Amino acid sequence: MSTAATTAATSAAAIRTQVAIVGAGPAGLVLSHLLADAGIDSIIIDQRSRADIETTIRAGILEQGTVDLLRAIDPHTRVDEVGMRHDGIELRVRGEGHRIDFPGLVGRSVWLYPQHEVLKDLLALRLGAGQDIRFGVTAERVDDAASARPRVIAHTADGAPLEIEADFVVGADGSRSVVRAAVAGASGDGYFREYPFAWFGILCEAPPSADELIYSNSDSGFALISQRSPEVQRMYFQCAPDIDAAAMTDAEIWDTLQARVPGTTLREGPIFQRDVLRFRSFVARELRHGRAALVGDAAHTVPPTGAKGMNLAIADVIVLARALEALLVGGDERPIDGYAERALDRIWKAQHFSWWMTSMLHTAPDATEFDRHRQAGELRSVVESEAGRTFLAEAYTGWPVG
Ligand code: DHB
Repeated sequence: MSTAATTAATSAAAIRTQVAIVGAGPAGLVLSHLLADAGIDSIIIDQRSRADIETTIRAGILEQGTVDLLRAIDPHTRVDEVGMRHDGIELRVRGEGHRIDFPGLVGRSVWLYPQHEVLKDLLALRLGAGQDIRFGVTAERVDDAASARPRVIAHTADGAPLEIEADFVVGADGSRSVVRAAVAGASGDGYFREYPFAWFGILCEAPPSADELIYSNSDSGFALISQRSPEVQRMYFQCAPDIDAAAMTDAEIWDTLQARVPGTTLREGPIFQRDVLRFRSFVARELRHGRAALVGDAAHTVPPTGAKGMNLAIADVIVLARALEALLVGGDERPIDGYAERALDRIWKAQHFSWWMTSMLHTAPDATEFDRHRQAGELRSVVESEAGRTFLAEAYTGWPVG
């Protein structure tokens, strides 16, 4: 379906499209679908192979609005077949469980459906529709973003130069975005925060230890008991950011996890993957410059607590796709001029929620007695109050995109 054509006007290797999308993650793929629906051509490039994209382990929680969108764009989404609807989570506070009942509080749910499964569905959908996706192509920079003909300068896996001339360039290229420099000036220019801890994550072969996710605040630190399938479980515990993931034995990992979830006997099994997740909050100072814009992790990063990352990326894309349709089909510049402001409205709410869940549930290494008592008071003021639980449920299940 792509109308990409070699043009003599630029250079021998230049191809032309309406929207050049850098990054074949959830944001880039959903954007290409929404654009195609509006009759707009796009080309996606990604430096990874398709197999890499489909197997990298990421978070697993989809908001209600994300699931509604996936169902609307993909009749073959396996979100209801492979994924699992979750109607709540448990906040465990020093061994005492408090359920947050999502449908009862806000009439919405979330789905446990790992991101790499979403990517398998979206790649099959887009490739099946004839979308031009070039794997193994690395973007170097974006030129002429302020002009009507921005260009992505890239090279293929074997080093051959590739140039894409477009009406608009979108950076959906993750936290190490190359497009960001053309939009925000210096690549790292933005609002930034680091945290004095990280998550040690494992995948193990075991039955689930609980029906729903448990976010546990304990005297020895935070742990999250999540799931992947009836046979595979995902769990995390708070650790030092510089921990060596290989240094702990399986027995030490289980002891650490078990000590942090008092009240539940974890069902143990072979650990077949371990990783360390860094915690940072970031929002780029600019989300759009001329004919280039950022979405998803290229525009912002959240700490993982609350699993907002992919959901926020998709919310950005919904706003941007409408603005690009107005610009490229209707010749109306106003929605693209308002893109950053509209997207930032949700981004900062999600930044707050992710920071809040993180600071409310983890133990800071330099926490004083005052901090610990205050945190316990904060947790009680959430779990003991319908207003508190509703605030959490509203944010966790995702604010309607509108
Ligand atoms: C998962 C990750 C999260 O960050 C979270 O808040 C909940 C679940 C997960 O990977 O399963």
